[in-house]
Amino acid sequence: MKALVYHGPGLKALEDRPKPELREAGDAIVKLVKTTICGTDLHILKGDVPTCTPGRILGHEGVGIVDSVGASVTTFEPGDHVLISCISSCGKCEYCRRGMYSHCATGGWILGNQIDGTQAEYVRTPHADTSLYRIPAGADEETLVMLSDILPTGFECGVLNGKVAPGSTVAIVGCGPIGLAALLTAQFYSPAELIMIDLDDKRLDIARTFGATHTINSASGRVIDKVKELTGGKGVDTAVEAVGVPATFELCEDIVAPGGTIANIGVHGSKVDLHLERLWSQNISITTRLVDTVTTPMLLKTVQSRKINPGQLITHRFPLDRILDAYDTFSRATDTGALKVIITA
Ligand SMILES: NC(=O)c1ccc[n+]([C@@H]2O[C@H](COP(=O)([O-])OP(=O)(O)OC[C@H]3O[C@@H](n4cnc5c(N)ncnc54)[C@H](O)[C@@H]3O)[C@@H](O)[C@H]2O)c1
Ligand SMILES: [Zn+2]
Ligand SMILES: [Zn+2]
Repeated sequence: MKALVYHGPGLKALEDRPKPELREAGDAIVKLVKTTICGTDLHILKGDVPTCTPGRILGHEGVGIVDSVGASVTTFEPGDHVLISCISSCGKCEYCRRGMYSHCATGGWILGNQIDGTQAEYVRTPHADTSLYRIPAGADEETLVMLSDILPTGFECGVLNGKVAPGSTVAIVGCGPIGLAALLTAQFYSPAELIMIDLDDKRLDIARTFGATHTINSASGRVIDKVKELTGGKGVDTAVEAVGVPATFELCEDIVAPGGTIANIGVHGSKVDLHLERLWSQNISITTRLVDTVTTPMLLKTVQSRKINPGQLITHRFPLDRILDAYDTFSRATDTGALKVIITA
C-alpha cells in the first residue's frame, strides 16, 4: 500500500509499505477513505516530537471503512464506515474512566506518533471499540475528518476549559484550523463578544465569516488597547491561546479580565513567563489540556444536525499519490491560503 513515511527531521517520502495486520484482539484494520495533514505533523517533521521515530507512517486523522476486526471487537464489523479519533483509548484504565482518554495507559496520542498512522491506504487502530465512531449513513465524510482532532481540540481545550458562557467576552489568539474550530464551537454558548487575533489578514477575514464579532491584527502593536476598548476597559472573560509561542501566551496574560480564564491549546516548545507579580490578585484560572476527544459523539450530532459546519475549514483536495504536494500547500499556508487539505486514499 502507499504510505507517507517520516524519515527524520526534514525528511519524508511516499512509499510502498506492507498492508498492516491485526496484532491485538481489540484492533481493527481500517481502509482509509479520507485523511488530512495536521500542524502537529509539521512539528514532527521539524524534529519537535521525539516519540515519533524515523520509519513511522504519519497521520492521526481520517475516515474509512472497517476491513477486519480482532477477536474481542464487538461494536464494529467489516464494511462499517467509521471516524478515526486521533486519541486511542482502552475505555478501562484509570484515566479513561475519568474521561482523560489522552492519558490512557495503553493509548493516548499514539497514532502517527508511536504507531503507524492514517496517511496511508490502511491503518491498524488499537482499542477499536472505544476509539472509532460509527458514521451515520448519508453523512458528508469529508466534513467529518474535522472531528478526528481539530474540532474536539478547539472545543475541549479552548471552549470547555475556557468556561465560555452566554453573554461572556472571548478572545482567541491564533486563527489557524484550531483557533477557528474554537471559534465555531464557542458559538454553542452565545458569548457576547468573540474577538479573533492573528498576524494574517486573510485568516482574520475568514474568522469574520465564521462568526467573529471583531478581529485584530496583532502586528498593529495595539492589540492590548484594542481588546480593552472592546471590553469596557476590563479585558476578556476567556482568553484562548491557539498558537503555541511565548508571545501569544503572554498576550493572553495581558488581556484576561479579573475573574477570567486563560485556556491554553498551543503546543509549546519553550518556556513562557508567568507574570504572577501582576496576576496574583486577579482571580484568574489557567488551564492546559491535551485533547481527550470525549466530546466527539456530541460534536458528531451537532454536525449532523447542521448546527455547525466544520467543512468550511477545507480549502484544498489531493489524491494520496499527490500527498507531497498536499504537504507543500499546507506548509505554505500564508501563500496558499490553506486551512485543512483533504487527501483521498
Ligand atoms: N492541546 C492539544 O491537544 C492540541 C491538539 C492539536 C493542535 N494543538 C496545537 O494548537 C496550535 C494551533 O494549531 P493550528 O493547526 O491552528 O496552527 P497554525 O500554525 O495553522 O495556526 C497558528 C496561527 O497563529 C498565528 N500566529 C503566529 N504567531 C502569532 C502571533 N505572534 N500573534 C498572533 N497570531 C500568531 C499564525 O498566523 C496562524 O494563523 C499549535 O500549537 C498546535 O500544535 C494542540
Ligand atoms: Zn493533530
Ligand atoms: Zn485507557
